[in-house]
This record gives sequence, C-alpha cells and structure tokens, in this order.
Amino acid sequence: MDQTYLTLNNGAKIPQFGMGVFMVPEGEETKQACLSALRMGYRHIDTAHAYQNERSVGAAVRESGIPREEIWVTSKLWPSEYGEGKTMAGIDKMLSRLNIGYIDLLLLHQQVGDYMGAWRDMEKAVAQGKVRSIGLSNFESERLEEVCEAASIKPAALQVECHPYYQQNELKKRIAKYGTVIESWYPIGHGDAGLINEPVFTELAKKYGKTNVQVILRWHIQEGNVIFPKSVNPQHIRDNFDIFDFALTAEEMGKIASLGCGIRPVLHKA
Ligand SMILES: NC(=O)c1ccc[n+]([C@@H]2O[C@H](COP(=O)([O-])OP(=O)(O)OC[C@H]3O[C@@H](n4cnc5c(N)ncnc54)[C@H](OP(=O)(O)O)[C@@H]3O)[C@@H](O)[C@H]2O)c1
Repeated sequence: MDQTYLTLNNGAKIPQFGMGVFMVPEGEETKQACLSALRMGYRHIDTAHAYQNERSVGAAVRESGIPREEIWVTSKLWPSEYGEGKTMAGIDKMLSRLNIGYIDLLLLHQQVGDYMGAWRDMEKAVAQGKVRSIGLSNFESERLEEVCEAASIKPAALQVECHPYYQQNELKKRIAKYGTVIESWYPIGHGDAGLINEPVFTELAKKYGKTNVQVILRWHIQEGNVIFPKSVNPQHIRDNFDIFDFALTAEEMGKIASLGCGIRPVLHKA
C-alpha cells in the first residue's frame, strides 16, 4: 500500500505523512535526519523559522536528488515578521534560507500580533508564486474565524496539537466549512510514555504485528489528519513510515476515540 495524499481546498495534493524537525539543531543533524527520511520515501518535511533549521532542511531537499515537485515543505512565520510589507520581506528571507525555489505551505505560527496584515501579504505571495498554499498554526480562539471570514484565500491547513488524548473534534467542526485540513503536532504526544503505552495500543500492536507508535500514527491517517512525527533515530524514522500496510477497523477506531480526555502531555507533566 502506498502513502496517502490529501487534496487541499485549493486542489494541491499534500502527502498526509511527513517528518517534523522541531528541536533538531541546524546543521548535520537536521540535514541527515531529512536525508534519511527522503531516502526512505518520505516526501514531506515540516519546519519553521523558529526552529532555526530551515537552511539544513533546504540542503537536504537539494542533495536528495528527488525532483523538487515531489517534495512538500512547510514552514511557519514567527509573529515578529507579521504585518503588511514586513511579512513579504520575511517570506523573501525564508525563501533565501530554504533555497528550494518556493514554499509548498506557509503557516502563521501563532495567533498574536498583526496576523491580519500578515495574511494579506501571504495571499500576495501566493499570487506571485513564492508560496503554493497558506494556512494557520495554533489559531484556536475566535481569531480563527476572524482570519477565515476575511480571507480571500481560505486557510488550506490548520496545525494544532492533536493526538488520541486531545482529538480536536470541536475544532474540526469549526473549520469544516472552509475545507481546511487538520495537521497534528505532537502526533505521539511528544513521545509521551503514558500515551504510547495505553493498553489499547499494546493490544492492537500485537494483533497487527506493529509497534504502539505505529498504531497511533495509523489512527491519525484514518482520522484524516496530516502528521509529521519528529525523529532523529533512523529506526524510528523507518518504523514511523511503515503504517500503510494495515488498517484499523471501525470498532478499533472507536476504542481509540474513547481515550479522548483533554490531557496535553507536556502541560500535564509540568
Ligand atoms: N505548530 C506548532 O506550534 C508545533 C508545535 C510542536 C510541534 N510541531 C511540529 O510537529 C512535529 C512533531 O511534534 P514533536 O516533535 O514535538 O512530537 P512527536 O512527533 O509527537 O514526538 C517526538 C518524540 O517522539 C520520539 N519518537 C519518534 N518516533 C518514535 C518511535 N517510533 N518510537 C518511540 N519514540 C519515538 C522522538 O524521539 P527520537 O527523535 O529519538 O525518535 C521524540 O522524542 C514537530 O517536529 C514540528 O514539526 C509544531
């Protein structure tokens, strides 16, 4: 079974699965993790200006030898670069850091500052061919509707914390009318052992000959979420991608849905 793609509200096809590089240092570590992933068949990398590793992501994309059109790269603008005019300058700097021609998906990282001015510049960047799709990250207050209603280009994606403990069902209802897809950050709860070792995952992992993490990632795929688990461990990178040869039943999806309890692992531990 091949990896899956979702069609966004602008017709673009996004690989539903990729790799995130949050907290991976700029330089060889990011470049090698991305190269390993791309060589294993990954076609989607999620980075951000704030992660300070866009140069290494871009280097991996170029060195992979894979045609640019086959790879999806998402990055995010930090609020210090929000504002009409200022955001376009920020996009130009991002394009120069990445050095891969264009950005597949550009997100506003946080719902603060002059996000409306930033959105207008992002729409212009789409018209100019610098960016293919635009969306939001961490917009969960009424600011989400404020942007969606004013936008000429409706957000293609909304990236938020989402995993079996925190499933975002209400948010999914709110964005349905805009055709926006959910991208899950912390897909495996940032590696939270309590989540990963839930008995339902252990039981299903045994049934399918998979790991608990693979069962969680498969749940996201069947929920229609876009995911990009982070890993710098080659075995994890390989295992995380090996989720397209089995399917959970409706009953099993229901059992996992019943884990939803609102726990946000890192906040919970703090
Ligand atoms: N928009 C936002 O505000 C925002 C916020 C947070 C994250 N994100 C995005 O979402 C991505 C994913 O989030 P995340 O990195 O924080 O959390 P995550 O993907 O849920 O978990 C990553 C952790 O799990 C471990 N791991 C990965 N695969 C594993 C496996 N097969 N078995 C056991 N452990 C495994 C990783 O360690 P190893 O490296 O050792 O494998 C790492 O410690 C980020 O990289 C970033 O792109 C966005």
